[in-house]
Amino acid sequence: MKRSLRSLSLPLLLFLFLLASVAFRSVIFPSFLFCQSYPQNRNIYIDAPLLSLSLHEPADSSLQTDIFDLLQASLESFDTIGGKYRTFSLWRGISSDESVRPRSLARIRLPVRTGTRYPPDRRVILPLFRHSLATWARSHNAELSFSVMSELTQLVKRPIEIFNGLKDSSEPYSTCAVVGNSGILLGSNHGELINSHEFVIRLNNARVTGYVRDVGSKTSLSFVNSNILHLCTRRVGCQCHPYGENVPIAMYMCQPRHFLDYVVCNSSHKAPLLITDPRFDNLCARITKYYSLKRFAYSTGLSPTRWNETHDETTFHYSSGFQAVMLALGICKRVSSFGFGKIKSAKHHYHSNQKAELDLHDYEAEYMIYQDLIKQPKTIPFLAGFRAPPLVFYH
Ligand SMILES: *[C@@H]1O[C@H](CO)[C@@H](O)[C@H](O)[C@H]1NC(C)=O
Ligand SMILES: *[C@@H]1O[C@H](CO)[C@@H](O)[C@H](O)[C@H]1NC(C)=O
Repeated sequence: MKRSLRSLSLPLLLFLFLLASVAFRSVIFPSFLFCQSYPQNRNIYIDAPLLSLSLHEPADSSLQTDIFDLLQASLESFDTIGGKYRTFSLWRGISSDESVRPRSLARIRLPVRTGTRYPPDRRVILPLFRHSLATWARSHNAELSFSVMSELTQLVKRPIEIFNGLKDSSEPYSTCAVVGNSGILLGSNHGELINSHEFVIRLNNARVTGYVRDVGSKTSLSFVNSNILHLCTRRVGCQCHPYGENVPIAMYMCQPRHFLDYVVCNSSHKAPLLITDPRFDNLCARITKYYSLKRFAYSTGLSPTRWNETHDETTFHYSSGFQAVMLALGICKRVSSFGFGKIKSAKHHYHSNQKAELDLHDYEAEYMIYQDLIKQPKTIPFLAGFRAPPLVFYH
């Protein structure tokens, strides 16, 4: 071990240095390590500023305020329409600042299922609400790391296996299919191929009835965002199961007040209702922002600091499809993706007539990430230490 450094050749030293910087996720040589596949162009600012810009989250301070207010809030409930509905309201607690009036921070109205304990009593809901929100908020503030990727089997696969009465195994699923909602699926005949995967993930409760030949019928996990669950709370028993009540749901939390919906629905759901780990959310957010900044700089030749002139920084977000692919990479040995991408002649969604894309997503940037996940996953910032399994996109 005492070998002198001088006896090592310079290239070897350089190599070791590079290796160390990758291992420690250092940002010493970002432009060299992360951007080798893109044309060199002096007008493009692809370097450390890009990484630091991608870490910037302007919506974070208002999120912290929301969380603080919600954790202090009181919960009231009252019945309406002859006891047919029960309304729950979270009220902002008394403030030391007298000019701040109490206001409702969240409100949901649930149909009462007579003769059952649904919806639960507010004295049951409030402590569960506070506990789950506080736990989530703590994790939200955790340090950014790709290591959460290797915890996903534990966080997602394990509860599903326990629910299915299977022996707990930390082995990833052998094959997974992520079924996106793009209109390119129509006429694809991919249904049987999709069904042949061990684990099939579907997005945002997209319908399969009537489309089985193209999209398959098997669903192992329904991946949704919490806006969808919020709509489901209007139904008796929080019915949110187009694929059957035994299909587990993994949900991304869009807003912290949706923990109210979560706690109510969790009490009535048979299958697990899982919330994506905020460390995982943050990882997805940083990666997509980095690629969006990079694409902006690359396609316009402008400084990435001007990215916010074409994107609303406070609403910019990765798509559910992106997070579902990332999730699959964490819990599967091989991942196939269907229904991602768009062509002019195809509908936006196979199951709806929605025309426009939501401009809070940057799908083009996400396609760039998929390319790198397939060809050079090690070059993806924040993910450098993760061993991505093989990923294939079907068109
Ligand atoms: C959600 O439901 C599951 C299963 O019933 C339970 O184990 C878990 O503690 C619940 N979580 C909350 C926050 O209520
Ligand atoms: C856009 O971002 C830059 C640099 O991050 C910042 O200085 C500027 O104030 C932002 N502009 C808007 C309109 O938010």
